[in-house]
Amino acid sequence: MGAMANRIPIGRPASGAVAPGAAEQGPAVAAEPATSRTVFIETYGCQMNVSDSELILGILGPAGYHLAASAREADIVLLNTCAIREHAEERVRGRLAELAGWKRRRPELILGVLGCMAKHVGKELSADAMAVDVLASPDAYRSLPRLIAAAAAENALGGTQRDLHLDRGEHYEGVDPVRAGGANAWITIERGCDKFCTFCVVPYVRGRERGVPPGEVIRQVEEHARRGGREVTLLGQTVNAYRYGDIGFGDLLARVARVDGIRRVRFTSPHPAEFDAHTLAAMAAHPAIMKHVHLPVQSGSDRVLAAMRREYTRTSFLDLVAHMRALMPGITFTTDVIVGFPGETDDDFAATISLLREVRFESAFMFKYSEREGTLAARELPETVSEEEKGRRLTRVIDLVEAIAAEQNRAWAGRTVEVLVEGESRRDAAQLVGRTEHGKAVVFAAIGARTGDLVPVRILSSTSHTLHGEIAGSEQGSEETWSSQARPLS
Ligand code: 5AD
Ligand code: SF4
Repeated sequence: MGAMANRIPIGRPASGAVAPGAAEQGPAVAAEPATSRTVFIETYGCQMNVSDSELILGILGPAGYHLAASAREADIVLLNTCAIREHAEERVRGRLAELAGWKRRRPELILGVLGCMAKHVGKELSADAMAVDVLASPDAYRSLPRLIAAAAAENALGGTQRDLHLDRGEHYEGVDPVRAGGANAWITIERGCDKFCTFCVVPYVRGRERGVPPGEVIRQVEEHARRGGREVTLLGQTVNAYRYGDIGFGDLLARVARVDGIRRVRFTSPHPAEFDAHTLAAMAAHPAIMKHVHLPVQSGSDRVLAAMRREYTRTSFLDLVAHMRALMPGITFTTDVIVGFPGETDDDFAATISLLREVRFESAFMFKYSEREGTLAARELPETVSEEEKGRRLTRVIDLVEAIAAEQNRAWAGRTVEVLVEGESRRDAAQLVGRTEHGKAVVFAAIGARTGDLVPVRILSSTSHTLHGEIAGSEQGSEETWSSQARPLS
């Protein structure tokens, strides 16, 4: 399969190496045994999956696998999948159909489906036509070397190797995730979810909530800082419900914020009913904890929130936002919204619109309700909103959120903000892109700054998604105004 030049040892990726799921490109790193097998992971869905793909590489590397530079060159192609909405699963089915075509021409190719969709619809995927050799649930990644080896041995005979168990004790302690490199590291602090919101498949496919031991979290944060990383984003389905023994989320946040070299701490996604006074106090006390919270509201109607079993009301959500704004002036909020939940009337939808107007989120992920097999809503709440009406409601919330976002962004013009540089702008390599403390994306001319730098940028203009600016002082040719990182990121 892959030429020697395209075998990349799994471990610390070489500069510019392929991130899990990144575009099909990569550098030439060679000199590994010709017998080694190469693997390529495509990651779908949320940041938790990005973080899981890094773990998977951390398991496969020590087992002797190497990173392929592209799916085409790989001996093993693994899809790390998402089951949250039908659309997410359809994308994976489409890709699998394509890969099944490759496999007809290259029968020795091993295809794996990992993560949420493997757990959700694994049986269907192991049907012959799909050509899936390996299935592993989010708690079964340690079994991958065994499953892949068995699939390689069995390939001629067909059949799917699977481990779809969920394990409330699995937090992948001791596995060293292979990160893509860059200023930010996504660090999973909590796996699974116990909330069972009636629309959501996550508790079924990711199992029970469990905190990663704090020592393991701090070890990973320190490792990222040692490599020159400046930012961490702590991940969990209900991240602020984190608990490990006596250590709660507020304690962990404060410990992470004190790690040497870490300048920015973010977390996603918190649950509105899980903020305690201790967490809020830690956020307010530590300048390194960013004053931006992604706070999924889902709906502005109490009737719908109750049917979703979200454990908060419109009023308690608004009170939380007001309290955080009083405690941390300037804090920004983004959110998730679902339209067309079963039973959502025009009045319920109007309540969502009015809540969005009241809070003025900086941006939102907005979704049409998608019925997920196995959830309480799928079992007990028949759909009442037509696809056309869901579409109309979605367009309305998108238009409103975009209009508010554009207004909010205009208010930044003329101000100077500190930006952590994340890399080149996708649209224009002469421009860099980074984020402000408040989570705003900023694009600016790449004069002298590098990934990982914290630079002051003066905002000149904006759209609903992005601020545009120039490095403050760059008009005088000064490049000394920002703190360049101590060590280069690789
Ligand atoms: N249908 C639509 N959106 C959903 N989400 C979760 N489950 C569903 C579903 N069945 C959305 C919620 C959640 C985000 C991650 O995805 O808004 O916060
Ligand atoms: Fe799903 Fe609710 Fe858990 Fe979020 S809190 S992952 S929406 S069940």
